[in-house]
Amino acid sequence: MKIVIVTGASSGIGEEFVKQLDQNFQRIDEIWMIARSEKKMEDIASGLENKVRILPFDLEKREDIELFSDILAVEKPGICMLVNCAGFGVMGNFQDLAIEEQLEMIELNCKALTKITYLCLPYMIRNGRILQVASSAAFSPQAGFAVYAATKSYVLSFSRALQEEVRSKEIFITAVCPGPVDTPFFERAEKGGHTLLLKKKFTVTAERVVHDALIASKKRKTVSVCSLPMKAFHGACKLLPHDWILEIAQYFAGKEQEKENEKEIS
Ligand SMILES: NC(=O)c1ccc[n+]([C@@H]2O[C@H](COP(=O)([O-])OP(=O)(O)OC[C@H]3O[C@@H](n4cnc5c(N)ncnc54)[C@H](OP(=O)(O)O)[C@@H]3O)[C@@H](O)[C@H]2O)c1
Repeated sequence: MKIVIVTGASSGIGEEFVKQLDQNFQRIDEIWMIARSEKKMEDIASGLENKVRILPFDLEKREDIELFSDILAVEKPGICMLVNCAGFGVMGNFQDLAIEEQLEMIELNCKALTKITYLCLPYMIRNGRILQVASSAAFSPQAGFAVYAATKSYVLSFSRALQEEVRSKEIFITAVCPGPVDTPFFERAEKGGHTLLLKKKFTVTAERVVHDALIASKKRKTVSVCSLPMKAFHGACKLLPHDWILEIAQYFAGKEQEKENEKEIS
């Protein structure tokens, strides 16, 4: 049985991956969708052409990951593509945010992604592809988004190293590193009142991110960065010391705050 697996499939970028993969892959047996919201996945699946298996798992729960492992062991599928997209971020200063929620970010963005990758690798077919959804936040530390940016740096670093390990098995890994994307992500990320620097200027659609990511994956690129400003940011993060990037970001954050304050007064 040939399959495609998408985590975080109930919304945003993951939902878009499912839709575009449904169109791109005509000769697979099933798309496996993983997220907590069963109903949302059923609604998405009702509009798809391929057969879908809905796996309503909470990837922060060890027992749900064990269940997934058991299903793989029974079905022994040939995995053509794995998209690890489940993840979330919360903005605010480290000390002001609940530690539990910040540890949850590590649990989902890093630990679950790592475990799912580990479990799926033995079933990947030759020329199978893995897309690890990181973020442009992976390129540099980010004050006010410290744990999230660190989790995404982990994803990027892990993906690049693993690519070298599995190249001889003809498995190809792409770390997907978009800037801000128009999805429900920010409902949770900004719930404390913090907003992402220059978000409005740089936001792109999930359609574009996924389209570019699938092309990058097909070309066996190790990193996919969507949009010119994010490519420039990526380049700057390679050239400049990260202390400078942090200082420049703080400077612009201060400017944005001044503008907001002026708006409120006038
Ligand atoms: N939007 C952006 O600006 C942006 C930018 C760069 C990178 N990203 C990354 O892109 C990925 C997708 O985010 P998005 O923008 O599409 O946000 P989203 O619309 O909020 O989607 C997040 C997905 O993760 C799933 N998820 C959350 N907690 C889960 C859990 N415990 N177990 C299983 N699934 C869980 C959600 O499904 P349920 O709630 O149904 O479980 C949902 O399907 C994330 O890794 C995010 O860090 C986003």
